[in-house]
Amino acid sequence: MLGQSTLWGTNKNLQAQLVANSSSAVILKRKIQFFRMRLHTFLWILGLLLPLLLISQASKDICNAKPKDMPLEPRCVYRSPEEDASTADTELEKVPEHTNPRVWELSKANSLFALALFKQLAKDKPNEANIFMSPISISTAFAMTKLGACNNTLKQIMNVFQFDTIKEKTSDQVHFFFAKLNCRLYRKKDKTTELISANRLFGEKSLSFSESYQNISELVYGAKLMPLNFKEKPELSRVAINDWIANKTENRIQNTLPEGSLDSNTVLVLVNTIYFKGQWKNKFDKKDIFKADFHVSKSKTCPVSMMYQETKFRYGRFTEDKVQLLELPYLGDDITMVLILPLKDTPLSEVEENLDMKKLIGWLHNLKETTVSVQLPRFRIEDSFSLKEKLQAMGLQDLFSPMDASLPGILEDDANALYISEAYHKAFLEVNEEGSEAAAVTAVVAVGRSINFNREVFVANRPFLLLIRESSINTLVFTGRVADPCGP
Ligand SMILES: *[C@@H]1O[C@H](CO)[C@@H](O)[C@H](O)[C@H]1NC(C)=O
Ligand SMILES: *[C@@H]1O[C@H](CO)[C@@H](O)[C@H](O)[C@H]1NC(C)=O
Ligand SMILES: *[C@@H]1O[C@H](CO)[C@@H](O)[C@H](O)[C@H]1NC(C)=O
Repeated sequence: MLGQSTLWGTNKNLQAQLVANSSSAVILKRKIQFFRMRLHTFLWILGLLLPLLLISQASKDICNAKPKDMPLEPRCVYRSPEEDASTADTELEKVPEHTNPRVWELSKANSLFALALFKQLAKDKPNEANIFMSPISISTAFAMTKLGACNNTLKQIMNVFQFDTIKEKTSDQVHFFFAKLNCRLYRKKDKTTELISANRLFGEKSLSFSESYQNISELVYGAKLMPLNFKEKPELSRVAINDWIANKTENRIQNTLPEGSLDSNTVLVLVNTIYFKGQWKNKFDKKDIFKADFHVSKSKTCPVSMMYQETKFRYGRFTEDKVQLLELPYLGDDITMVLILPLKDTPLSEVEENLDMKKLIGWLHNLKETTVSVQLPRFRIEDSFSLKEKLQAMGLQDLFSPMDASLPGILEDDANALYISEAYHKAFLEVNEEGSEAAAVTAVVAVGRSINFNREVFVANRPFLLLIRESSINTLVFTGRVADPCGP
C-alpha cells in the first residue's frame, strides 16, 4: 500500500485516479502418483530452457503475425456443431473499424461469459454485498488451461467461456485471436493510462511439461513456466506465487492463494493478473466533494464522500428498462467506466436479473453526448472468491473432476493424469479523486453549472453496476456492483 501511495504522491497534479487490479489462479493437481519423476527432472530442464530462449524472439511479432505464420496447434481441436449463425442482431453489432472480425467475436464471447458469471455471482451474494472482478482475467486463465484440454473437458470450456460462439472454422484458433486481442488491449495509447496484464505458469520442478504446451503458452500469453518445488515445499511455493502476483499488481492483490490451497500433489498453477490505473479525462474537483448518504437499502444508509461535476458525457436514460447509463472516459479515451444506475425505486436486483448482452449493447449504442450533473461517491472495493463452484454451476464440470478431467496436453507423457483442484480470483478497485486548484477552476468555469437548465442528473447514491471496458471493441476488463461503498 505504501509503495502505491508514494507513487500517487509524486504527481500532485493528478485529480482523479483509479486503480483496478485482479488476479486469477488455477491450480492443477495429479489424479494419481507416478514413480518416474526423478528421471524427468534432467530431461525437463534441457527441454525447457532452449525453446524459451527461442520463443522470446518470436513473441515480439505476434501482434503482426498471420494465422499461418503461427503454428498454434493445441493438443486437441474442438468443432462446434453447426447451428444458428444468425442469432446476433447484426445491425447493432457491426465489426468496428480496423478490427479483425475474429478478435471482435472473441471479445464478444468474453463479454457473454462476463455477464453470465456476473449473474451467477449476483445470485449467490446478498444484495448488499459488493462484487468486483475481472472477467477477462478469468477467461485468460482458463484459455491457458484449454490449451491442454481434450474431449468433454475441452467442450465444456468452449461452451462455458462462449469460445464456441466464434465462427466454426476458427474456434480452435482461439489462442491466436487471444494473442491479437491482448495486443489490442494492452498497447499503450496514453502514457498516463496503464493497463497491464501478466501471465505465468508455475510447475512442479520434477515433472516434464509438454514442450508444445509451453511454446503456445509463452507465445500467446507470454506465460513462461517457472519451476517450483511443490512436492517438498508446497507452502513456500504458495508464498512465492502470491509474492509474484503482489509484485505484478503494485502490491494491491495479496494472498490470492489461501493457506493450504497447495499441497505436495500440486503440479501446476496458472496465473493471470491485470493491473489498471487511469486518470479521468474530465476530472472531479476536490472542492466539490461533499458528505452525502448512500442508500445501501431501503432501511440502511451510509456516509460517503460524494464527488461532483457537470460535464458533457455519453449518457442515456432508458425508461422501459428502468436504468440510467453514464460513461466516464479515462485519458486516452480507449478505456471507460460505464455506470448503470437503476431509476429511483427500482431495486438493482431487478436490473441485474434482466441484464443481458443484447440489452447492454443496445444501451451502449444509444448513449448520447449530454451535459450531465454527476454525483459519484469515492469508494474502494475488494472481492475474492473461489471460481470452482461458480464455474461448476455454469457447466464446467469435468475439468474439476479427478475422475473425468481430460488434460493430456500439459504433461509430456502421463496422459490424463491432471485435473483442476481449485481456481481463485481476487480483485480490487479504488476510485479516488484528488484535486489541484488550477484544474479545479478550469473545470467549474468551463462548465458553467448554473446556466444549463436542461442538464441531466445522475446521482449514484444507491447501488449501481459498473463496467470498465475497452470501448472500441467493448471488452469488459472489469465488472462490478457497488452496493456498499462505505467499507474500510
Ligand atoms: C477422449 O475420449 C475417448 C473416448 O472416451 C478416449 O478413448 C480418448 O483417450 C480420449 N482422448 C483424450 C486425448 O483424452
Ligand atoms: C517449441 O518452439 C521451439 C522454438 O520455436 C521449436 O524449435 C520447437 O520445435 C517447438 N516445440 C514444439 C513441440 O512445438
Ligand atoms: C517487483 O519486482 C521488481 C523486480 O524485482 C521490482 O523492481 C519492483 O519494484 C517490484 N514491484 C513492486 C510493486 O513491488
